[in-house]
Amino acid sequence: MENKHFAVALDGPSGAGKSTLAKETARALHIMYVDTGAIYRAVGLYALRCGVDPHDEAAVSAMLPEVKVSMTHADDGTQRMYLNGEDVSEAIRLPEVSMYASAVSALASVRAFLLEMQRSLAREHSVVMDGRDIGTVVLPDAEVKIFLTADDEVRARRRFLELEQRGTPKPFDEVLAEQKERDWNDTHRDVAPLRQADDAVVVDTSALDFEQSRALILKTIREKLGI
Ligand code: DC
Repeated sequence: MENKHFAVALDGPSGAGKSTLAKETARALHIMYVDTGAIYRAVGLYALRCGVDPHDEAAVSAMLPEVKVSMTHADDGTQRMYLNGEDVSEAIRLPEVSMYASAVSALASVRAFLLEMQRSLAREHSVVMDGRDIGTVVLPDAEVKIFLTADDEVRARRRFLELEQRGTPKPFDEVLAEQKERDWNDTHRDVAPLRQADDAVVVDTSALDFEQSRALILKTIREKLGI
């Protein structure tokens, strides 16, 4: 299996458990985990810091030549994100950065700017790549495509608990409202909207705990790859 080169595209809305499950899956398969949301977050963070309106395509495009995003991957699957050489792995998780990331990710120039970086990682390594358009746009030939989802309330509850654990709590209603706004943005943008690829397997984790979700994803991948 180690010699076999393949890609697993894991797409879905926020709070479906993508990043945790993608990381665990990559670890189990001994391949690289790539969190593509983190690179949109890095661009969003730069716009926030520069006081650039993240909806203003001309302003964001003008800023892009100053943006150098890179990432490193440790053996344990941990990805660290760098913005112009600065480690921003923690800063990009702040709630205000989520909205900026969602806004800049709707811009064609930003998506084009980040596309090749994602594709080259998948060319060089077997990957589990999580995002919104991995199976539809970034890696349309991925050997395995999974669309991971869960009910709105379940996803918002997970985000609420995650924010609490991070020490940046927010009222549940606010978390749910923001999630709905991001879901709407992510599914209604003109460029690479979040949608299920025709050949994706849908995994709904609403009624599953982490271990059950993990087992179902690994089973789906192994069946698809015949490993
Ligand atoms: O997965 P996340 O919440 O870290 O993603 C941050 C934002 O980036 C989210 O609003 C959707 C966007 N995104 C995207 O448009 N395409 C991707 N492949 C990954 C994330």
